[in-house]
Amino acid sequence: MYANKLNRLMLGLCSRQTTAAGRSAFSWTAVCKQRTLWLQERACLKTRRHVVTCHTSARSASQTTVDPDEVRRFQSLAGKWWDEQGEFAALHALNDLRVPFVRDNLLNVHRTPRPGKPLGGLRILDVGCGGGLLTEPLGRLGANVLGIDPVGNSIGTAQLHSAIDPDLRNRVCYRASTLEELSAELGGEGEEQGADPFDAIVASEVVEHLADLETFASCCNHVLKPGGSLFITTLNKTNLSYILGIVVAEQLLRIVPSGTHDWEKFISPVDLERLLESNGFSVQSVQGMLYNPASGAWSWTNSTAINYALHAVKVRDEPHADRAEDGGSRPEDHAGAAHS
Ligand SMILES: C[S@@+](CC[C@H](N)C(=O)[O-])C[C@H]1O[C@@H](n2cnc3c(N)ncnc32)[C@H](O)[C@@H]1O
Repeated sequence: MYANKLNRLMLGLCSRQTTAAGRSAFSWTAVCKQRTLWLQERACLKTRRHVVTCHTSARSASQTTVDPDEVRRFQSLAGKWWDEQGEFAALHALNDLRVPFVRDNLLNVHRTPRPGKPLGGLRILDVGCGGGLLTEPLGRLGANVLGIDPVGNSIGTAQLHSAIDPDLRNRVCYRASTLEELSAELGGEGEEQGADPFDAIVASEVVEHLADLETFASCCNHVLKPGGSLFITTLNKTNLSYILGIVVAEQLLRIVPSGTHDWEKFISPVDLERLLESNGFSVQSVQGMLYNPASGAWSWTNSTAINYALHAVKVRDEPHADRAEDGGSRPEDHAGAAHS
């Protein structure tokens, strides 16, 4: 979705300079004032929200990761996943980094690579798989991959596409589902066991679209085996991501409809690490990623200012939401931290 937008953004910036020289169509002062006001409002809202959160003892099992607006947006794009030059071109290109990132980190943990199929024998859950852009290459590396997404039409696209490759037929499958639904099926201690837990979870470019990261982290813990890996790629919550993603793309160049990006849902590596550690994970590595809109290629970088990849390992079981309601209350203060 982002490649074309960024290319248009670069082109748009160039043409904008000519216009701006003649007449002042855009004022940075106005933007800064607007942002200051917005930050003040947000600080108030956050304080109010924190008070509400603190008065809510146990987290409700009915909390969901699903934001209906996000689902509607991806529903309208569900037929476009496999257009390599289209809306999702940058996600296709991102495979150059994320597939080796997942493979190499898993091989560090599971040191029995099979020739040709290094991830053979591993069960991976791809949360928010969309059309299966990441699911498929992980399947080709030998893993058994389940891709889930709440957008049924995306799952349909993913199923149709993977059926083309006989190598994937018994290795990759898809379900229109949420992580919390899947987690509920797994049951808990003393309950009837459902499906087996996973060796690894990937959630690539997904957490910035979720309604509730606390539920996401808790469910990830629940569906993973002890020692299992969690891989996340996402956007940092910085001024740079605000300027590029909100001000420039939505307000200045209007290449994205206003409201497409919710900067509130971006999360810094520090806050993500805090959230994961409070949900039984230990973060192993965080690595910056950089997209070049001119070449359409991604590269690793030391800076996590815009995009980053994170690898965490499950180090302990955490009380799950279903059981938290039965009296297993837990500190809620990190829910605020996840979105600070
Ligand atoms: C930017 S796309 C990334 C797709 C895929 N992970 C990839 O990188 O090719 C975000 C995906 O998250 C999905 N999504 C939105 N809300 C979700 C939720 N609550 N749980 C799981 N996936 C969700 C969307 O439907 C969409 O497929």
